[in-house]
Amino acid sequence: MNVKTVGVVGCGLMGSGIVEVLAKNGYNVIVREVNDDFLQKGLARVHASTQKAVDRNKLTADARKEALTRIVGTTKLEDLNICDYVIEAAVENLNLKKDIFERLDAITRPEVILASNTSSLSIAEMAAKTHKPDKVLGMHFFNPVPVMPLLEIVRSFMTSEDTYQTSRALGESLGKKVIVAKDLPGFIVNALLVPYQLDAIRFYENGLASKEDIDTGVRLGLNHPMGPLELCDFVGVDTVLYIADEMYAETKDPRYAAPPLLRRMVAAGYHGRKTGKGFYDYSNQAKS
Ligand code: CAA
Repeated sequence: MNVKTVGVVGCGLMGSGIVEVLAKNGYNVIVREVNDDFLQKGLARVHASTQKAVDRNKLTADARKEALTRIVGTTKLEDLNICDYVIEAAVENLNLKKDIFERLDAITRPEVILASNTSSLSIAEMAAKTHKPDKVLGMHFFNPVPVMPLLEIVRSFMTSEDTYQTSRALGESLGKKVIVAKDLPGFIVNALLVPYQLDAIRFYENGLASKEDIDTGVRLGLNHPMGPLELCDFVGVDTVLYIADEMYAETKDPRYAAPPLLRRMVAAGYHGRKTGKGFYDYSNQAKS
């Protein structure tokens, strides 16, 4: 299938990153947000990130200008009806995503593939809301999307070989290294990452080490760019809890059981960098 125009549903942290890599790699993009305020914020993120790429010599000023002209924003899902491929990157809520897939199924051409950027939810459940479950799969990008080289493709038991091959080609055309996961809780990366993050939180909660020493230990001892608690703040403490709860609900595996501190932090609004406080305080820094 010849993919020229890609629809993206959601222009938050992940959606705006997906929009950026698509536009930089020559695709026309139609991105939909629920209201104009969110849309403008999302597009501003794309403008700022592409400017950063120019400042870091990763993109020329001309290529940036050209990429930005390929992006069209809308608040109407129906405007995605001309797209050749659609990636959903709305908030992690299964009912909301199922509703979006049902609506996308009604407005897109029958051959158009519908992908979800979900980090933990069931692809099969979203696919079941459409008349083309063979054309539904997961395209899970990593944050920050313009920088992280990985794309996790998630095949449900109904995803066809054609859908997979077209999606793999699309991902590779964005410069991403593709890995293939089954439609099981956490896929590959989060199935490994979440127990590690929860262990680090328990370690800290139980007073076994300071948060700084946990993070420094992993950064300097394992050469990770961020320690596990810093990474929670970066990904979103609320997102970590959400993913852990989803995985626990489905598997009842105690490795995915959220420690009480995590739940209390989320209840108190300590969501990480985006709220200015998480395991660390970011109130004096620009939010990211
Ligand atoms: N566009 C293009 N390139 C950019 C860029 C942009 N907007 N911003 C930064 N870069 C480039 C920089 O030029 C630099 O490249 P070089 O190494 O070639 O010079 C590189 O990206 C790193 O940038 P910085 O120097 O500005 O930043 P840093 O060194 O502090 O790294 C980071 C920042 C990339 C976020 C790093 O800390 C990191 O990798 N952290 C871990 C991120 C991670 O694990 N993400 C996955 C989270 S899990 C997830 O997403 C899945 C889920 O479902 C929850």
